[in-house]
Amino acid sequence: MRKKIVAGNWKMNKNLQEGIALATELNDILKADKPNCDVVICTPFIHLASVAGIIDQSVIGLGAENCADKASGAYTGEVSAEMVKSTGAGYVILGHSERRAYYGETAEILKEKINLALANGLKVIFCIGEVLEERESGKQNEVVEAQLAGSLFDLTAEQFANIILAYEPVWAIGTGKTATAEQAEEMHAFIRGVIAGKFGAEAAENVSILYGGSCKPSNAKEIFSKENVDGGLIGGAALKAADFKGIIDAWK
Ligand code: 13P
Repeated sequence: MRKKIVAGNWKMNKNLQEGIALATELNDILKADKPNCDVVICTPFIHLASVAGIIDQSVIGLGAENCADKASGAYTGEVSAEMVKSTGAGYVILGHSERRAYYGETAEILKEKINLALANGLKVIFCIGEVLEERESGKQNEVVEAQLAGSLFDLTAEQFANIILAYEPVWAIGTGKTATAEQAEEMHAFIRGVIAGKFGAEAAENVSILYGGSCKPSNAKEIFSKENVDGGLIGGAALKAADFKGIIDAWK
């Protein structure tokens, strides 16, 4: 059985004190009322070590939102996968549409990042998704398949076992415009088919595919009810413990 996961992506929100407060609140809430799914919070780099010291990682996993495409050395301002791992984090988000759009991350760069993350024992939450124009012209499957092929298809099946996929239609991120549960299901089933074609039926059956884009407590249950939707990658609603808990409870 593949894992059900609700992961939060804090993006560039919360200073250190606010982040510690949110992680503490979430940890208390989830220890008192155990989730029926894996829960992960992905925080800014500077929060990782502090948050790792607060949360019980048997209840909440910890991840970064990015890592460098180089192992170490003279790359001012970058944070390596090894550094992320050394904080106690176990996950890293790679390929988020904001990184692709604002920081020029290409399929090739993402390949390097994925290799380094996996080599350092991190699980990768790899994001894919089309922009509005691509959906309106019916190109969403083509775009998503190219994103998968461009960054993941050189992996071995063993490496791929440490990949979690997150389908995030760019037009649904932070816009309040969620994909319908049917649109999510249709794309997730397509993605699983692409993975089956490349890595085989077992890998496709085992990979968790999360939906991301304006997911909230009020729509999570419907979206998660679909056969190929294994959870969510949550932005805005991950910034308030009650909202994030509401989404986690969609699995109850
Ligand atoms: P929102 O939930 O704010 O739409 O963001 C989704 C997202 O980009 C998560 O990575």
